[in-house]
Amino acid sequence: MRTQVVIVGAGPAGLLLSHLLGLEGIDSVLVERQTAEHVQARIRAGMLEAGTVELLRSVGLGARLDVEGMEHRGIHLQWPGERHHLDFVDLVGRSVTIYGQTEITKDLMVAREKAGHPAYYSASDVALHDVTGSPSVTFVDADGAAQRVDADVVVGCDGFHGPSRLSIPSSQVWERAYPFAWLGVLADVAPSADELIYAWHPDGFAMHSMRSPRVSRFYLQVAPDEDIAEWSDDRIWTALATRLAFSGWTLETGTITEKSVLPMRSFVTTPMRHGNLYLAGDAAHIVPPTGAKGLNLAVADVALLARALTASFRGDDTLADAYSETALQRVWRCTHFSWWMTSMLHRHGDDFDAQLQLAQLRRTVSSVSAATELADNYSGIPL
Ligand code: APR
Ligand code: PHB
Repeated sequence: MRTQVVIVGAGPAGLLLSHLLGLEGIDSVLVERQTAEHVQARIRAGMLEAGTVELLRSVGLGARLDVEGMEHRGIHLQWPGERHHLDFVDLVGRSVTIYGQTEITKDLMVAREKAGHPAYYSASDVALHDVTGSPSVTFVDADGAAQRVDADVVVGCDGFHGPSRLSIPSSQVWERAYPFAWLGVLADVAPSADELIYAWHPDGFAMHSMRSPRVSRFYLQVAPDEDIAEWSDDRIWTALATRLAFSGWTLETGTITEKSVLPMRSFVTTPMRHGNLYLAGDAAHIVPPTGAKGLNLAVADVALLARALTASFRGDDTLADAYSETALQRVWRCTHFSWWMTSMLHRHGDDFDAQLQLAQLRRTVSSVSAATELADNYSGIPL
C-alpha cells in the first residue's frame, strides 16, 4: 500500500502524530509490534505539562481529560522533618494535570478509530528500507501476510527498543545509567495527599502520586537489579510510611494491585532526522521519570514534527530541515532537568553528597528564584 507518512510504533507518540497529521489532511499508516490491548495496558507516568493539556484540548482530545484529569497547583518537596509546597501557579502562572498515560492512549485510539487512519497491530519482522530515498516499511501482519507500505516519509515512534534509530548510520548516543531504580506501586486507596510528594530520605527516595480519587501511585528508590520478590506488600507500606513520614500526617494503605521495578536512565540519540526518516519520543530519548518529562517530551516532538511535515507537504521544508536541531534543544533542556531532579532527590554517594542534596532542597524551597526555576521546568516551558 502507499501513504504519505508511515509511522513505526503506536504508543502515545505514534498515535498523536497520526492524529495531528490527519487533522491537516495528511494520510498515515501506523505499524505496531504489540496488540492494541498491550499498548493500552502499559502503566506509565501520568503527569501532564500545561502545554500538553492545551495541545490535547486544541485537537479534540480534551473531553475525558477535562472530566477525569486532576489539576494540581504544584508539588510537595520533603526531607526528614520538613515538607514544603511549591505553588507553580503562583510562581510561573501554570498548573499541571494528573491524567494517566493509559487514558491518553485510550483517547488517542478512539480518535484513530473514528478518523479511520489505518493501523497494523501485532506486526512482526518490521523493517525500514531506503529511508534516504523512497522509504518503505515491510512487516508480517497479524494474519501472517507479508506487507509493504511505501511512503514519502517514515517516522520512528518505536520507543527505546525499536529499530528506527538503528537506521541512522552516523547516529551519536549519549547515555547515563543511574545506580538505582524505582519500585512502582499501584494501590486501591485514596491518595493521602492533595498533590504529589517527592521525598528525600536516608533510606532512599520515595514519591506519593495518584491516578484518581480512589487510586494511588507510589515509587520507592531501590537497587538497579532489585528483585521484586524481595518486596512484600507489608515491606512496601513500611518503607513508604518511613520515607514519607511527616508529623501529623498519616499514609493510608490499601490493596496493592500492581508492582514492578522500573530502570532509570538518561539517553539521547542524535540526529533525530536522516533523509526521509524522522524520530520522535522515546525512539530518540529517554529521561529518568523524576521530572515527569517522558510523555510531555514525546508530545513536544510530535507537535513540532506534525507542523514541519505539514509545511513540507505544502512545499516549505524550512521547519523539516530544522526539526532535529529544534527538537534537541527541548530534549537537552528536559534531559538536564530530569537529571537534576533525580540527582537532588535520590540517595547515592556518601554523606557529603547527602549534605549537598539537602542544601539544594533547602535552597529550592526558600528562594523564589530557585523555586521558579523548578516550577518553570516542571510545568513545562511553553511549546
Ligand atoms: N515495530 C513496531 N512497533 C514497535 C517496534 C517494532 N520493531 N518496537 C517497538 N514498537 C512499539 C512498542 O510496542 C510501543 O508501542 O513502539 C511503541 C513505542 O511506544 P512508547 O515506548 O510508549 O514510546 P512513545 O510513544 O515515544 O511514548 C513515550 O511512553 O513509554 C512511555 O515513558 C515513556 O512516557 C513516555 C512515552
Ligand atoms: C506518576 O504519577 O506516575 C508520576 C508522576 C510524576 C513523576 C513520575 C511519575 O515525576
